[in-house]
Amino acid sequence: MKGPVTTVARGPVLCIETSCDDTSAAVVAGGSVLASIVSSQNELHAQFGGIVPEVAARRHTELVNVVVAEALGVAGLGWDEIAAVAVTVGPGLIGALLVGLAAAKAIAYRRRLPMIPVDHLQGHIAANYAIGVQAPFVCLVASGGHTLVAVVNEGVAFRLAGRTLDDAAGEAFDKGARLLGLGYPGGAELDRLAAAGDARFARFPRAVPRGADFSFSGLKTALLYYLRDQGEEAIAAHRADIAASYQAAIVGQLVDKTLRCARDEGLRRVAVGGGVAANSGLRRALAEACESGGIELFVPPLSLCTDNAAMIGLAAGCLPAIEWPDFLALDAYAATVLSG
Ligand code: KG4
Ligand code: ZN
Repeated sequence: MKGPVTTVARGPVLCIETSCDDTSAAVVAGGSVLASIVSSQNELHAQFGGIVPEVAARRHTELVNVVVAEALGVAGLGWDEIAAVAVTVGPGLIGALLVGLAAAKAIAYRRRLPMIPVDHLQGHIAANYAIGVQAPFVCLVASGGHTLVAVVNEGVAFRLAGRTLDDAAGEAFDKGARLLGLGYPGGAELDRLAAAGDARFARFPRAVPRGADFSFSGLKTALLYYLRDQGEEAIAAHRADIAASYQAAIVGQLVDKTLRCARDEGLRRVAVGGGVAANSGLRRALAEACESGGIELFVPPLSLCTDNAAMIGLAAGCLPAIEWPDFLALDAYAATVLSG
C-alpha cells in the first residue's frame, strides 16, 4: 500500500485553481491544508442560467490576487515561506484556466519558485488523501464536466476504467433541475428537493451501456418527456417525488459502475471526488453498497468535493515540479488528456 509520493523538496505550496467558475487559492504543506479560500461565482452566473466562460474568466482576473492574499493570511505565512506554486492547467474552460496559470507564473517567476502543474481530475482524486485513503483504490470522479471511474495505482497516477459516453453526471443534475424549474446551480437544489420525495414514484428508463461506461443523456430526455406528459398540477403536487426518482436513476448508475469496477479489479477501497460527490443520495447509496460489499468508502468533506485549490495542493504533493524559469513555457488545455 502506498500513499502520495513526494518528488519535490517540500515546504508550503501556494495553490491556484480557476478551471471553471470558482476562484480558489490554498496553502498546503506536507499533505496538510493550512488555508483554503474559494470565491464562488454562482450568483454572477445565475442571471444567465449557466456559466458564461468569458464572464468567468474576467471575474477570475478580478479575484485571483484577492484569494491568494487571503490564503496566505489564513495560513499565517509570508511570501518568503512559500516553497512552490501549484496550479490547475486543465481540463476546464480555457480562458478561466489561463487566468490562474498566468497568475501562478507571475508569482513563481517573481519569487524564483518552482511550479507544479496539476490536472484538475487528479485534484479531485487527491482530495481523498486529506481523509487518509491509501492507493491502490477505485475513485469515482463526478463533476459538472466529467464523470469517470479511475483505478488509482499510486499517488495520482490512474488508469481510466470507465467514463461517460455523453453528458457528465453533474450536467444531468443541472439539466434535470432546470427542467424541474429549480434555480442555478441545479445539482444542490435538486438534492435538497429530492430529500423530501419518494424515489419510487416514477421510474426513469436507464439506457445504460454495458461494461464500465456511463450514459446520462437518455435520462435527461426521459425526464423531459415525462414532464411534458404530466399536467402542471401533477408536476406541482409531486415535484419532490420526481426529483427523488430522477436523482435515484443517476445515483444508481454511478454506484453500480463504481462497485462493479472495485469488484473487477479486486480492490476493497472506493473513493469519490467532484461536485456530484456532494450529493446526499449518492453518499448514502455508496455507503450502503460499500457496507454490504465489505468495501471501505472514502468520501471527502463537501468543501473538498466541489472545486477548490486545496485538492490541487494535495495532488501537487504527488507530482514533480518544473524548475524556474522553465515553467514559463507551460500552457493550459481545455480537454482531458489523461487516460491512464
Ligand atoms: O467539481 P465541480 O464543483 O465543478 C466541475 O469540475 O465541474 O462540480 C460541479 C457540479 C455541478 O454540476 C453541480 O450541480 C454539481 O456538481 N453538484 C451537485 C451537488 N452539489 C454540486 N450535484 C448533485 N447534488 C449536489 N448536492
Ligand atoms: Zn471539478
